[in-house]
Amino acid sequence: MARWWYTAGSTLLLSSLSAAAWPYSTYTSMNFQPPKLEVNKTGTTEAGYLFLGPRGGVQPAGQAALIYDDEGNLVYEGPEEVTANFRVQQLNGEDVITFWSGTMMDLGFGYGAVHILDNTYKEIHTITLTGAFVTPDNVAKDSYIDLHESHITSRNTLLVTAYNVTQHDLTSLGGNSSEWMLDSHFYEIDISTNQVLYSWSALDHEDQIPLNSSHQKLGADVGSQEKPYDAYHINSITTTNNGYLVSLRHMWSGYHILPNGSIEWQLSGANGGDFAQVGSANFSWQHDMRVYNETDEDMVLNLFNNANTPTDSETPTTGISLSIDLVNKKVTSLRSLTDPNDPIHSVSQGSYQLLNEADGHVFMDYGSISKVKEFDGDGNVVFSAQFGPDNAIASYRGYRCQWSAVPFWKPSLTVQKTSEGASVYMSWNGATDYDNWVVYSAASANAVNGTQIDIAQRTGFETVVSVDSPPTNYIQVAARQGTKVLGTSEIFSF
Ligand SMILES: *[C@@H]1O[C@H](CO)[C@@H](O)[C@H](O)[C@H]1NC(C)=O
Ligand SMILES: *[C@@H]1O[C@H](CO)[C@@H](O)[C@H](O)[C@H]1NC(C)=O
Ligand SMILES: *[C@@H]1O[C@H](CO)[C@@H](O)[C@H](O)[C@H]1NC(C)=O
Ligand SMILES: *[C@@H]1O[C@H](CO)[C@@H](O)[C@H](O)[C@H]1NC(C)=O
Ligand SMILES: *[C@@H]1O[C@H](CO)[C@@H](O)[C@H](O)[C@H]1NC(C)=O
Ligand SMILES: *[C@@H]1O[C@H](CO)[C@@H](O)[C@H](O)[C@H]1NC(C)=O
Ligand SMILES: *[C@@H]1O[C@H](CO)[C@@H](O)[C@H](O)[C@H]1NC(C)=O
Ligand SMILES: *[C@@H]1O[C@H](CO)[C@@H](O)[C@H](O)[C@H]1NC(C)=O
Repeated sequence: MARWWYTAGSTLLLSSLSAAAWPYSTYTSMNFQPPKLEVNKTGTTEAGYLFLGPRGGVQPAGQAALIYDDEGNLVYEGPEEVTANFRVQQLNGEDVITFWSGTMMDLGFGYGAVHILDNTYKEIHTITLTGAFVTPDNVAKDSYIDLHESHITSRNTLLVTAYNVTQHDLTSLGGNSSEWMLDSHFYEIDISTNQVLYSWSALDHEDQIPLNSSHQKLGADVGSQEKPYDAYHINSITTTNNGYLVSLRHMWSGYHILPNGSIEWQLSGANGGDFAQVGSANFSWQHDMRVYNETDEDMVLNLFNNANTPTDSETPTTGISLSIDLVNKKVTSLRSLTDPNDPIHSVSQGSYQLLNEADGHVFMDYGSISKVKEFDGDGNVVFSAQFGPDNAIASYRGYRCQWSAVPFWKPSLTVQKTSEGASVYMSWNGATDYDNWVVYSAASANAVNGTQIDIAQRTGFETVVSVDSPPTNYIQVAARQGTKVLGTSEIFSF
């Protein structure tokens, strides 16, 4: 069999060709430069903020975990780092922030750790994975957790993915007998102890997942340790009533894994797999498979249907919801979401979040296309936002989450002298609940109980007020909800 040239190995690679400038915001009280959000709100949205992790080298800074409100105001910016899966989840009944951060490889996966923060942004758990992993550059890593999944289960464990480099006989694909390839692993980790409770490898189940069913062809440019062949590309895991549902993008399939690791069934977007599939329930190069309303007889499966790769871009990307009849092995399409006024071809990454089971609102992040959209129950677009040039800035996933936080750090304050007095710049990174500021004139650099000289409504991330003839050169501010003080800044001498 001839080996053919195929360059689509790097599904996370971003184009630098279209890296046109994208506008970004700056502030005086914080040294942040997040991308500006272009927002079109055309209907009623669900409650919650936008959680994004933009990545790509266009703006000078702002590659970080970011929270915005629906008007496009920044609410929170984390440290400069590559992140994925930044969102709110529940741990032991409490809202926590979770995200992956680490190093992204050009090969389409990464090495890092999952961080769990409480509602003051204190890191309460750092989940890592160690073991005898082989890497493309042969360099050992501190932690081998890949970026693709950071899902907290109802049993307070964390599901994560990992990619291992291994040698394998690929003669059946036209390769040689000791070709290098990527094995797709997943792990269930106990959050309180960081102990691995369950592990699974796709290559261990080659009898049930034959390599020749991969839609990622073995190209002439892959097969070395530095550029291993990515037959599976694991990208989501969720628990089911009696196992796990795993998405393998390059197989165009979801697999139901039993506790002993065996595959109970395969749902293929190409031909149904173990299911007789109706035509409109097809999907390809998918992400983010989620299970709802599971019984022994049926379940609802939602997913982000990329339907595109870097080498094959024709059908618009959709978000789909499928009804899976586990008894008669039939799949039917319940919903297929796309914006007819803005058809998007997302060649990599992306997510599908069912916001509300009662009204059917769905939030989608388009991965390699730096856009998010919210759809209502009738499939109408009620919200669109863009945060970078297409194919140059990506957010692996994006979410709308309800979140309430009082940061453990103080509000930030910068005061600049003006000819009339002073300009006062106030912000409190990550604080969600304050709505006004009180400005005090302090007697000295370490005085308390200053004199109130102004009150200002909060305006977005940073609020600015002009103070005429302040009594002293010391100012302090407090962030309040109504009249309740939530945080007080240091005293600023100017
Ligand atoms: C990774 O692959 C190597 C080479 O096949 C193997 O020795 C090692 O056990 C694998 N690592 C894990 C964590 O399975
Ligand atoms: C794929 O490989 C399996 C063995 O793993 C073989 O039985 C099957 O015929 C192959 N299919 C194709 C289309 O080559
Ligand atoms: C097998 O193919 C890979 C990728 O082309 C190459 O790096 C490796 O040296 C080959 N091994 C043998 C034994 O030919
Ligand atoms: C795994 O469990 C299933 C269900 O009990 C069983 O049918 C299957 O044979 C088991 N597989 C292995 C490899 O033991
Ligand atoms: C689903 O099938 C239709 C009709 O054959 C085709 O046009 C479309 O590209 C397919 N979609 C995916 C995601 O494979
Ligand atoms: C689950 O079932 C309930 C009750 O029938 C229904 O309201 C809800 O929409 C279903 N969820 C999904 C995701 O289909
Ligand atoms: C918002 O609407 C304008 C005008 O129709 C359009 O040019 C722009 O691309 C839209 N942006 C998003 C993010 O939908
Ligand atoms: C004065 O400041 C102290 C320390 O911040 C505070 O505990 C106290 O309530 C303040 N008193 C008044 C009258 O504001």
